Amino acid sequence: MDKKHNSGETASLFDFVKIDTSDVYNTKKSNESLSMRLEKQIDPLSWILGHDFNKKNFELFKDVGQIYELQLAKMEYETFKENLELFKKRTAYFKIVNGEESYHSFISKVKGKGQIGHTNQYLTHWFYPYKGKFHGQMIKAIINFIGASGEDIILDPFMGSGTTLIEASIVGTKSVGIEINPALCIVSQIKLDSLRINYSEFSKNIKKNDLHMVFKYFNDARAYLNERKWEIEANNQNARDILIELWENHFPNSFVKNYPLEWRNLLLLIYLHALSDYTYLKGTNKEKSFEEFFYINFEEYSKTIKGTYETFRELDISPKESEVILGSALNLPLDNDSVKGVVTSPPYSIALDYVKNDLHLLNYLGIDTGKLRNRMVGLKGKKMEKLRMYEEDIRKSVEEMYRVLKKGGWAAIVLGDVVVNGKRTDFCKKIIEWAPEIGFVDAYAMTRPILGGFARLRYEYVLFLQK
Ligand SMILES: C[S@@+](CC[C@H](N)C(=O)[O-])C[C@H]1O[C@@H](n2cnc3c(N)ncnc32)[C@H](O)[C@@H]1O
Repeated sequence: MDKKHNSGETASLFDFVKIDTSDVYNTKKSNESLSMRLEKQIDPLSWILGHDFNKKNFELFKDVGQIYELQLAKMEYETFKENLELFKKRTAYFKIVNGEESYHSFISKVKGKGQIGHTNQYLTHWFYPYKGKFHGQMIKAIINFIGASGEDIILDPFMGSGTTLIEASIVGTKSVGIEINPALCIVSQIKLDSLRINYSEFSKNIKKNDLHMVFKYFNDARAYLNERKWEIEANNQNARDILIELWENHFPNSFVKNYPLEWRNLLLLIYLHALSDYTYLKGTNKEKSFEEFFYINFEEYSKTIKGTYETFRELDISPKESEVILGSALNLPLDNDSVKGVVTSPPYSIALDYVKNDLHLLNYLGIDTGKLRNRMVGLKGKKMEKLRMYEEDIRKSVEEMYRVLKKGGWAAIVLGDVVVNGKRTDFCKKIIEWAPEIGFVDAYAMTRPILGGFARLRYEYVLFLQK
């Protein structure tokens, strides 16, 4: 872990992640053999558990291997080690806690498309293929480190597809997500609501024979939606109200409108997912007709709804409330000192064009992309001016996070070191430099290497700023 310390004092909170080897060689003082003592120091599990070390009763998931994962595993354990029953329910990285299988082990068995081990795409996370999603497991561990529960609020001011809110609601803490793109507010709200769908009712009432008509309805609605261009300002509207308005004023009448709102919304999301598959896979060896994608996705979504419903019943999980708001991270609709933690990921500088990525979705809904672009962090301005505007916006957003955080609360910001015009941007360093000016008492950066092909991004950083 890179450690930056801005308050001039010696950091204490993160000291536990350092391995102290000073007494390893001093074997004479102890009855333990060198290898026993080494194991305690070097074995990741014993390093995490420290004095409470009892290897038989604890197990990490087999795919927990990167340094940042072990660090987060230790951080979440430190928060909950006095209450192992609760830790079993909340942990992200432990498979076994105190001899029992953790909830994350069951939850991550509700598989989704593109899932890697226990890290991502489980439950409804995989619904709609939005590029640039967080890994749910990491977010869960960060929320655990922050120690939020019950009425505490976790905020994601750059909500995207809602990963933070899903994780917060599953571990039982309230959450608020702010997003400037109305289409993503809709996607996130539907993903959250789908955690609560009663599968037995849904499967009894939505008949496979009706699917052709449902697909045709959404297909024909496109022209109708586009006639009514959707001039939607970001005025802090609740996403549930947006969805109600969408159905009332933008979709034509049909039998689909007789389904309960959550079911219609889910069918809409399945259609939008198929639209994305159809758009991106055309011309590849995975190409299929639009309608085929719709049927395949319906089957896969149904499996997830079933798995979620059954798993939550077995574990007695009822997701905590969350609020999705169409608004701006630069002007948060929240009171000063009102949230326990922020877990977020702003656009990674000007490198990724979020409007272009989701153009098919925005066009389908009839949303004016020109106006949206001018409100989005990272997409405003032209050429060199773009990077300057990005920097101003990021600073403003970090100031807003500070304003709404409660004293002692943490903001965890995930950001990548993207290359722009041949230069590696270093906004993480900038944020750490700004932190004491803004008022944060501490700032740390954790490094997360990005393995695989996307060379423009070598590392992500998880910055921890404390108010
Ligand atoms: C890196 S993505 C977040 C992805 C998210 N962590 C997830 O798991 O889906 C950044 C998001 O910030 C949104 N955004 C850009 N400008 C914004 C603003 N002014 N206020 C709120 N959200 C904004 C973008 O639309 C994009 O969805």
